[in-house]
Amino acid sequence: MKTRITELLGIKYPIIQGAMAWVSFSPLVAAVSNAGGLGILGASFMSPDELRENIREVKVLTQKPFAVNFMPENPELEQLLDVIIEENVTIASYGKGNPRRIIERTKPHGIINLPTMGAVRHAVKAEENGADAVIVQGTEGGGHTGFVTSSILVPMVAERVRIPVVAAGGFGDGRGLVAALALGAEGISMGSRFIATQECPIPLQAKEWIVRSSEEDTVVTDNLTGVRCRVLKNKFAQSLLEMKKRNVSKWELMKHARGRFRKAFYEGDLEEGSLACGQVAGIINDIPTCEALIERIVKQAMDIMGPLKEKILSS
Ligand SMILES: Cc1cc2nc3c(=O)[nH]c(=O)nc-3n(C[C@H](O)[C@H](O)[C@H](O)COP(=O)(O)O)c2cc1C
Repeated sequence: MKTRITELLGIKYPIIQGAMAWVSFSPLVAAVSNAGGLGILGASFMSPDELRENIREVKVLTQKPFAVNFMPENPELEQLLDVIIEENVTIASYGKGNPRRIIERTKPHGIINLPTMGAVRHAVKAEENGADAVIVQGTEGGGHTGFVTSSILVPMVAERVRIPVVAAGGFGDGRGLVAALALGAEGISMGSRFIATQECPIPLQAKEWIVRSSEEDTVVTDNLTGVRCRVLKNKFAQSLLEMKKRNVSKWELMKHARGRFRKAFYEGDLEEGSLACGQVAGIINDIPTCEALIERIVKQAMDIMGPLKEKILSS
């Protein structure tokens, strides 16, 4: 299934695994890329040495394209960029923040810039700054999230930019893929759906929690820690909301929130950790392999595509 995004990234299917700190390590990244999608290594909290080690681990597991995600504000940005360039990573992924330095350093090496944005103006700016494609994430999405739903954000961005747009936030099956194409996107990026897969290297109980959760089981820890973050409701999310009511300082909140992704997805503490996850939890009912999931999504999309078939350049 070819679209402008598969052509740009050199992948078989227009399905991207959203970057996930403490979740999208080499086994998941490689499984998605080997299955014809694009895996993204979540390197937000990695040191340059850890990043190099993790990139090499991915390369042992796949020969296919994959991306690395990092934060533009990282104080070690220059060293991280050195590693990406030295290790011949072909695709760079990052979120909001000033990307100028990243683009300046990576473009001369032919690295494709694929940022994720949560607002129309940020996506437009990303194109102006030289992004090759943009992932736009609606408020339904897990992790850091904006205010606008995917069904509004995606068509608005697709109208305003010429680069390929990828829809994120709330996608988990073939119906979502068809909807994204209809909205003007060239593919989908899924975070939460890929957490509940066999290859995702997190404790089984966290995957099972997502499978059990409904579309009403998430909450946005609304700007409490400086960034809006959609997570599953648990003891930790509740504690953040209570601290907010007591008007504790932002610094106290940030201290309280530190290391909570790690606690959830690495240590498996489902009550005290921050279980970032989107509303798409409501349609996640199983824990398949990445290959089975991607094949199922593509088949379902093709089966219901109907008049949208023109969107596909060839199959
Ligand atoms: C556990 C988790 C961690 C995430 N970490 C990052 C991250 O480190 N960098 C990033 O750009 N996006 C991050 N995201 C956002 C995802 O890449 C993706 O855009 C989002 O999950 C899409 O929405 P969905 O969950 O509805 O699929 C994270 C999301 C989740 C669920």
